[in-house]
Amino acid sequence: MKIIEAADYRSMSRKAANIISAQVILYPRSVLGLATGSTPVGVYQQLIEWYDKGDLDFSGVQTVNLDEYYGLKPDHPQSYHYYMHTNFFDHVNVPAKNIHIPNGLVRDITAECADYDRTITVLGGIDLQLLGLGNTGHIGFNEPNESFDKTTHRVALKQETILANSRFFDDPKEVPRFAITMGIKSIMRAKKILMVVSGIGKADILEKALFGPVTPLVPASILQLHPDVTVVADEDALNLMRSHGLS
Ligand code: F6R
Repeated sequence: MKIIEAADYRSMSRKAANIISAQVILYPRSVLGLATGSTPVGVYQQLIEWYDKGDLDFSGVQTVNLDEYYGLKPDHPQSYHYYMHTNFFDHVNVPAKNIHIPNGLVRDITAECADYDRTITVLGGIDLQLLGLGNTGHIGFNEPNESFDKTTHRVALKQETILANSRFFDDPKEVPRFAITMGIKSIMRAKKILMVVSGIGKADILEKALFGPVTPLVPASILQLHPDVTVVADEDALNLMRSHGLS
């Protein structure tokens, strides 16, 4: 595992965007696994800036998103469809047919989840998966105590996650209680993983994820067992790492 320290959020975003850019430049037909949440917003902004300058071309790229709230329409301002379009897809040239995000409106969740996993397989698997880190240690919406063995599935969100996400909703009661997420098994199948982490509020859970025991109680801890993980984190998020030899 590589841990890359960035001075601040902006620098974290640039470094992570550099890694994604390198992937797209070297392999223009890459399958990118994408994440939402507040942390990757700066990464997307940086990629858009380089795309506008003509340095990046996403026309051959396929994207698969980690998750979507269950029950939100794609045009709901808090849906991850809406997030991905407004923060990234509306500004770059990923062809619409190459964009894959779980459908949070389906009746037959089991079929939707199986379909999503099949799509990833047909695409040849994920080349580079971008991740954020939840306050509970979740990746995607795989909350503590979920089995490491799951592919795409429906999850009940933990109260702490509902609370953390309520900052984006006008009325906290509107925060969905369920989501569809790639499972830990789907995430671990990605060839490379890039996790971005920012802020002092994540320092404790980041230390547990990277240096604590590998346990479903801290879902991100499974990343210790993946052969190609890069964590790009700012100084605040790495605050508790000094004892682990980080300068
Ligand atoms: C988003 C996702 C989540 C977030 C995590 C951190 O697609 O899968 O795991 O990455 O909740 O969210 P922020 O960045 O808002 O702290």
